[in-house]
Amino acid sequence: MAERRVIGVLVSGRGSNLQAILDAIAAGTLPVRVGIVISDKANAYALERAKQAGIPHLVVERKAYADKQAFEQAIDAALRAASVELVVLAGFMRILGSEFVRAWSGRVMNIHPALLPSFPGLDAQAQALAYGAKISGCTVHFVDEGVDSGPVILQQAVPVLPDDTEETLSERILAQEHRLYPEAIRLWAEGRLIVSGRRVTIEASEKE
Ligand code: GAR
Repeated sequence: MAERRVIGVLVSGRGSNLQAILDAIAAGTLPVRVGIVISDKANAYALERAKQAGIPHLVVERKAYADKQAFEQAIDAALRAASVELVVLAGFMRILGSEFVRAWSGRVMNIHPALLPSFPGLDAQAQALAYGAKISGCTVHFVDEGVDSGPVILQQAVPVLPDDTEETLSERILAQEHRLYPEAIRLWAEGRLIVSGRRVTIEASEKE
């Protein structure tokens, strides 16, 4: 079997998307290896998930460094030491600086709980409710130097129902995130994502 491509996952909290990725790998539907999980929060439950899956994990806290640049250099060094080829942001609640994004250009993915370019930034589900949107969803995209503004890889719509709360809408979106993120990573691992400007096209698989 060919050597698996290596991803590094950056997290800040619960880590349900990390779990979906680990489950897809275990189920044999996602042919990558998670080389490292890095959290900027020492108490993130995602760390426990990494531990249980036997995956190297590390806490890199912003407050341990003099400035944002030094903090991101520490993350960069840990990713490189783990031979990471793709950085997967899975509920990582920080905006990465230009230096990091340029160094990893085209090799950082994020998942956002809205249909971008609608509702970027924090609390996307609450933004959709407050706006009165009838449809929201989730987006997997490559990270560029803006906030939630990079080329879109995959999107999935979900309805916003009349009696939705932030919690019920978030749950409905999250169920789709857990399907969409492993799928996007699989397409990357198979070399099927072709980026041209803002457009990402998906090449047909050899099996199709
Ligand atoms: C997910 O809903 C993800 O889309 C969102 O945080 C949640 C993390 O959940 N990310 C953002 O809002 C990024 N701006 P998880 O820790 O259970 O994967």
